[in-house]
Amino acid sequence: MGHVYLSRQLTPPAMAAASALGVPLVVHDDPDRPPSREQLLRDVRGAAALITLLTDRVDDELLRAAGSDLAVVANLAVGYDNIDVAAARSRGVAVTNTPGVLDEASADCAFALILATARRIVEADRFLRTGTDWIWGPQSFVGLDVSGGATLGIVGLGRIGMAVARRAAAFNMRILASGSRASSEEAAAYGVEPADLERVLAESDVVSLHCPLTPQTHHLIDAGRLAAMKPTAILVNTARGPVVDEAALVQALRDGVIAAAGLDVYEREPQLHPGLRSLENVVLLPHIASAGRATRDAMGELAVANVRSVLAGEGPRTPVPESVGSSATS
Ligand code: GLV
Repeated sequence: MGHVYLSRQLTPPAMAAASALGVPLVVHDDPDRPPSREQLLRDVRGAAALITLLTDRVDDELLRAAGSDLAVVANLAVGYDNIDVAAARSRGVAVTNTPGVLDEASADCAFALILATARRIVEADRFLRTGTDWIWGPQSFVGLDVSGGATLGIVGLGRIGMAVARRAAAFNMRILASGSRASSEEAAAYGVEPADLERVLAESDVVSLHCPLTPQTHHLIDAGRLAAMKPTAILVNTARGPVVDEAALVQALRDGVIAAAGLDVYEREPQLHPGLRSLENVVLLPHIASAGRATRDAMGELAVANVRSVLAGEGPRTPVPESVGSSATS
């Protein structure tokens, strides 16, 4: 049997699980940077399994380079827009992701961005560090009251969106949501009101994106949809960067079309639109939504469990869905 290729060192418990597979491991040797395309194409050759990251493009060329022993691509993420799933299927290669284990960490991060942007936490911290004289004032750093009445709009209510709704319910927010689970019993238990995208955008004080990136959701939030939001509204994106037209967002933030944004993801990661860094009304994170210690262990262990299961002939534990439709808009 061929080797298991890991495009990055995982956390120690996940590496221990990988070692216990009893199959030779080839691990990309730089813990901080992804392999170059050339390295990737070379090192996957003859592999039985790949453990990949969202920073790796898994396309037909890569699958071909791996060769006919390849049985599974286990992506260390719930999103898998970096993988050409159809190409993998046509070669009989299983594709898995890490659903479920990162919902709480991701929702915590989305909520951190909601609170940070609404209450101008990072802006206030930046201000204090300048050493400027300050004194308590009735109008200083006034922001949006999150608790008790602000409306949260969840675009694409799935597992992570539901975890965000649960938090919002505890904050006594009004919750609107689009997506197939917006009308579920669980959503109703958190007080979620199902709504179409247009209504979510028009009525929300905070819009939080939780849809997958698909051809249907690419630039879902464009200049027109930003203009459909309230001028006082905040956009939070912990989903995937290309769901938002980043140039249009920068323009909207500059022109006061919306009030603020909290971003964990970017259209051309790791690059940021040049206008973003100079805006006071954005909070910027380097794609860390799932970066809880136990969460990252669980993601790695689930990826390894998928490899183990496929190589044992038992099929994938968490295969990616047959097809992902756009559940964001309905
Ligand atoms: C992270 O972005 C993920 O999709 O898990």
